[in-house]
This record gives sequence, C-alpha cells and structure tokens, in this order.
Amino acid sequence: MNNPTPLSEENIQVWIAKLRSMRKYHTLDLPEALLRDLIVEEFARQSNPDKALQSVREKLHNIVAPYLGDPDYFAAQTAMQAAFASGDPQFVRDFCLSMLASHASTRERIAWLDNFYTRLWEITGLPQSVLDLACGMQPFALPWMKLPPSTRYHAYDLHRPRVELINLFFELSGRPRLAFHQDILVEPPTIPADVAFFFKEAHRFEQRRRGACRPFFEALQVRWLLVSLPISSLKGTRNLEQRQRRLMDNLLSGQPWAVEEIRFETELIFCIRKS
Ligand SMILES: C[S@@+](CC[C@H](N)C(=O)[O-])C[C@H]1O[C@@H](n2cnc3c(N)ncnc32)[C@H](O)[C@@H]1O
Repeated sequence: MNNPTPLSEENIQVWIAKLRSMRKYHTLDLPEALLRDLIVEEFARQSNPDKALQSVREKLHNIVAPYLGDPDYFAAQTAMQAAFASGDPQFVRDFCLSMLASHASTRERIAWLDNFYTRLWEITGLPQSVLDLACGMQPFALPWMKLPPSTRYHAYDLHRPRVELINLFFELSGRPRLAFHQDILVEPPTIPADVAFFFKEAHRFEQRRRGACRPFFEALQVRWLLVSLPISSLKGTRNLEQRQRRLMDNLLSGQPWAVEEIRFETELIFCIRKS
C-alpha cells in the first residue's frame, strides 16, 4: 500500500496553476473544483508526486477531451452575431450546424438531427425545463429540438469559452443565459427539471471515478434522465454496444426506475423515468 503524498493548500494551488498554464488548457479556464478534485484524489492514491501528477494529467486529458474538437471561439462569436443580425433563420441554422460539426459528439448526430429530439419527446413529452449535463456543443441543436421559448434550458460544461459562447447564443435566441461553468461531478445540479440529458459521458465519469454515476443519477431532481452511450468507437472501427449495455445494467441494478431504450446508429439512449 502506497503512503499518500501529504498535500498542503499551498501545494494544491501550485499544481492548479501549473495545470491551468499548460498549453492545451490555458485558454479554457478550467473550474478550480475540477482541478482540486483530481489533485486531491490522485495524491491520496500515490506516494510518488511525479506519478500522482502524471495520473492527474492523464485524467484531465480524458475529461477535457481536447481531441474531440473545438471551434475558434472568437471567430465563432463574430459569425454568430452576423448570422443573427442577418435576420435570416437559415443563416442561424447554418451557423449552428458549423458548431455541431466542430465537436465529434454532436457531429455524429447531424445525419439524424431532424428526428433525433422528436423521438426523445415521444417518450418524455415536450419538456418545460431541460438540464444538458456535460453539454459540449449540444445546445446549438436547439433549432432542431422544437422547444417553445418558455422551456428553460440549463447547460453545464467545463470549458469557459464554450459556456460563454452558449450563453451568447441563448441571449441572441431570446432565451435566458442559463449555461454554467461547473464541474457537475463535484457539484451535481439540483435544480428540478422535466428532462436531463447526460449524453456520451457516463462511461467517462466512471473512468474518472469508479462508482461516480450512481450517486450522480440519484442526486438529480428530474422526471426523466436520458443517458446516452456511444456504440461505436470514435474511429468507427469497434462495436461497443455489449460493453455499454453491461455498464448501464450495473449502474441501474437495484434501482426502481423504469427504462426505455432508443437506438441510433452510433448512440444508444437509455430513457430513465425517475419519477
Ligand atoms: C464526450 S463530450 C459530450 C458532449 C455532449 N454531451 C454530447 O453528447 O454532444 C463531453 C463534454 O462534457 C464536458 N464535461 C466532462 N466532464 C464534465 C464535468 N464533470 N462537468 C461538466 N462538464 C463536463 C466536456 O467538457 C465535454 O464538453
């Protein structure tokens, strides 16, 4: 058994500053709660500070997922303002498509965007409130969700520039600025809502901390929790369906919740009725 490396508050602050200044993260302004959580957890498991830091870096790489893609946020903001200023809804949709295409998770959905959300609402009913947990670029699919302007759409992500761009999009669309820069594993949202999306992230939550999903699912105050998992690898070469089904079976075993499934070509959605 390793003796954990003792960590002072000063050390924690030094490591947080080091991680934030890394080239691939310095523009993202990652939440302190996320960095602190990873540092405290990995230093408690490792006696060697270099190894602890290495494993913090590996985890951060998987969580922040720079390989999934990011637009140039400054250029995106200018393009979005021009699209709204044109007054032509088609320009706004074209801009939204370019944002969906900039990130691997949403890019995969573009082919069935026209009926993706309709199929969800057939099960849940049209929601008055939505939590988009670990949202990535999904809020830019709002024009295809066909939600009324009164639906309150809360979105959560770790990337500050992404959250700011989403808030500007909400504002220009006439919706409240409800995108939050928050680590939802450390601070699960407790706002009551009709529907929560937790798309393509549950398996990664479990990689970050084994056992994290169950208490997270329980903490959410939502009627419907929609959890999706990718069923093919990013390169499309491996079929992950059986593995993902086993993961969900484990996460839901012993829970009284009813579950319905929707299957798209690249994604399996578990529609969990929580109340
Ligand atoms: C695999 S992408 C999925 C994006 C989106 N849910 C979708 O399916 O289109 C993961 C996203 O979750 C965000 N994320 C990961 N862990 C998070 C956390 N603990 N709190 C908030 N956001 C998180 C990442 O920044 C990234 O944008």
